[in-house]
Amino acid sequence: MVIAVDGPAAAGKGTLARRLAAHLGLAYLDTGLLYRATGRRVLDSAADPADAAAAEAAARGLTPADLARGDLRGPEADRAASAVAAQPAVRAALLDWQRDFGRTHGAVLDGRDIGTVVFPDARVKLFVTASAEERARRRWLEQGGTGDREAVLAALVARDAQDAARAVAPMKPAEDATLIDTTELDADAAFARALAVVEARL
Ligand code: C5P
Repeated sequence: MVIAVDGPAAAGKGTLARRLAAHLGLAYLDTGLLYRATGRRVLDSAADPADAAAAEAAARGLTPADLARGDLRGPEADRAASAVAAQPAVRAALLDWQRDFGRTHGAVLDGRDIGTVVFPDARVKLFVTASAEERARRRWLEQGGTGDREAVLAALVARDAQDAARAVAPMKPAEDATLIDTTELDADAAFARALAVVEARL
């Protein structure tokens, strides 16, 4: 069984997907990590994340150690991830790996294009969202609540716009996805709603 959990940045999809996986005894894959690690490798090589050849080479050379790095979060990593993720060759390089993971284990995968591209026939598709202000507030709190909140909001809105506007695998709800808006839901309430959707499809 594959469960697709897509949505914009900081909507709570990671927390939700991890909880669903634990509850259902499925594996969990944070697909954003693949793009983050690819972006980080490009930055390390002093290339531009928008450089298609450098980004494809970085994606093809990914190792498990790259995914375990401690420097995959933060504004610079966010921007690099979104830049490499807009490139078709990078997405193609990471596609089979994601599919193999889901098919081998049965899994909950979270990302932007899981329900539309990676597993268009996933048993359950959720699109998790929240207002930009609420998502920025959560991201700002995660970062310690001391930085510039407006800057966090602006970066988040810019990244969502880039992820939604790209030509390949843009972020969008699959036609058959169930929308879960977490603006006014805490993690427990979001989980309860998601679990009800899953149980209706078992
Ligand atoms: O989910 P997360 O914020 O970690 O993802 C980082 C970036 O990776 C996103 O902004 C997006 O550009 C890209 N991404 C993607 N497709 C996915 C998962 C992430 O394009 N399935």
